[in-house]
Amino acid sequence: MTGPLLIFDSGVGGLSVAQSLRQHYPDAAMCYACDNAWLPYGLRDDAALAERIVAVCQAAVEACQPSVLVVACNTASTLVLENLRARLAIPVVGTVPAIKPAATISQTRHIGLLATKATVGRPYTQRLIDSFASDCVITRVAAEPLVVEAESYLAGGTPDIQRIQAALAPLWQAVMSTSADHPALDTVVLGCTHFPLLKPWLIQLAPVSLNWIDSGDAIARRVAQVVDELRSKQHDGRCFTTAPAANLTAGMARYGFKAPQLLNVGL
Ligand code: DGL
Repeated sequence: MTGPLLIFDSGVGGLSVAQSLRQHYPDAAMCYACDNAWLPYGLRDDAALAERIVAVCQAAVEACQPSVLVVACNTASTLVLENLRARLAIPVVGTVPAIKPAATISQTRHIGLLATKATVGRPYTQRLIDSFASDCVITRVAAEPLVVEAESYLAGGTPDIQRIQAALAPLWQAVMSTSADHPALDTVVLGCTHFPLLKPWLIQLAPVSLNWIDSGDAIARRVAQVVDELRSKQHDGRCFTTAPAANLTAGMARYGFKAPQLLNVGL
């Protein structure tokens, strides 16, 4: 693998993914690109956004020459991942809401999905729910103000607690109001990469202790697989010997090397 990992988001949300990547690979070379001129993505028209994301990612790939593109944005990934993979010659790893791990750990089978307006309504998100959490109640909360708060926090501001609290009110309602067919929500999917940047405040404001799930670890694991695949493609595997060694062919193959070729030393 030669080039760095390129992390892409609309804004600073991809930094939460960069943090997970760094925890797994402290030495990983990374570049960061964000489409801050079009931020926030969650309120944009789908068709215009799809075209925009492809253009910005192509320009960023051209500038950075990465080995892998990590689309660290749920709003982008749930819209345009397949299109990006078709257009780019490098592997593309996307970020989608962590519904599957949330369904694995929820005891009450009531999960909150906190994401942008676009992501909570996407067919891609519905397919994830149908595939992995069909037995769960899902409370979807569109929380655009959290994107704004995460941006201003990274720009040196202090998060506006009242604004965050107001955006989370529908979530707390689902946490507190229980009935026979609506058991208390116990797990929240952070389906926008901006939101883990505000996690200390989210935990502090929650009326009870909750499971908070983001996609960072899953992305880091997927990137590791992709990097391994790239490395094994680069593995040349040729083997040279100074005496004929056809008898080593099978043994060499077990270690990933090709049949020995005789080396002409010229002495
Ligand atoms: N960080 C992006 C995501 O994961 C969205 C932020 C935005 O709306 O631009 O969806």
